[in-house]
Amino acid sequence: MAVKILDGKIMSAEIKAEITERVAALKVQGVTPGLAVILVGNDPASEIYVRNKQIGCDETGMNGRTIRLRADISQEALEAEIDRLNRDSAVHGILVQLPLPGHLDEQAVLAKILPEKDVDGFHLINAGHMMTGTEGVVACTPKGALHMIRSTGEELAGKEAVVIGRSNIVGKPMAMLLLRENCTVTICHSRTKNLKEHTRRADILVAAVGKAGFVTADMVKPGAIVIDVGINRVDGKVRGDVDFDAVKEVAGWITPVPGGVGKMTIAMLLANTLEAAERTLRHD
Ligand code: GUN
Repeated sequence: MAVKILDGKIMSAEIKAEITERVAALKVQGVTPGLAVILVGNDPASEIYVRNKQIGCDETGMNGRTIRLRADISQEALEAEIDRLNRDSAVHGILVQLPLPGHLDEQAVLAKILPEKDVDGFHLINAGHMMTGTEGVVACTPKGALHMIRSTGEELAGKEAVVIGRSNIVGKPMAMLLLRENCTVTICHSRTKNLKEHTRRADILVAAVGKAGFVTADMVKPGAIVIDVGINRVDGKVRGDVDFDAVKEVAGWITPVPGGVGKMTIAMLLANTLEAAERTLRHD
């Protein structure tokens, strides 16, 4: 069976087109969804991510605002900035680009964001909603990855899903979402023994490792859905965690890098911002 490419460019364009229509409808009611992105310092990778988020806002008609703060900003000053945005009714979503410089307490910063404006889904309240399967903001990258998995049309209940990586941003929420789909979920990580034995059982394999080409063809079950969350810069090129050229000969579905999950992350961020803006109308 020939591999099918799960194309993040096409899928995210479809989602953004729908978001654009819903933004226009909200504007008629006097609300323009607003996203504030805080960038502390000038990490080059973060600069690119933040720019892409701003472009996404521009494309869909949202008010995107990038707030640049000095790398040596104090915890108090950063938290005061978040307080200001929490109170600003034109701002429906607040995102603090991670990682933050080492002297700042990341968890304390994230905890400052009002949960209903936490469009990243990183606040403990939203992480708790994810755990319990109740309504909350779902983290963008796992949400986008799940959208891609669902797009295969495969029945997910009862499937073996293996997530490599246990970060709070991707691995853990991804595992929770797959559990909610009634998959049998295994989380593998750097201390997992006999990794290949786990991954070869996976009907759905999600790689969120942060190492270029980590997942090789011998680790993949024939016909599997392979989702590559990695964004690694190697010799100036962006490469995923999956050895794409080899794994595509084995997998049933695969996401490319670039043009895969990364595109979906931004689409989901815009969706979360739109939904936050729509909620404010319902609460008026
Ligand atoms: N840095 C890398 N990925 C992310 C993300 O999804 N959200 C934020 N806020 N920072 C990131």
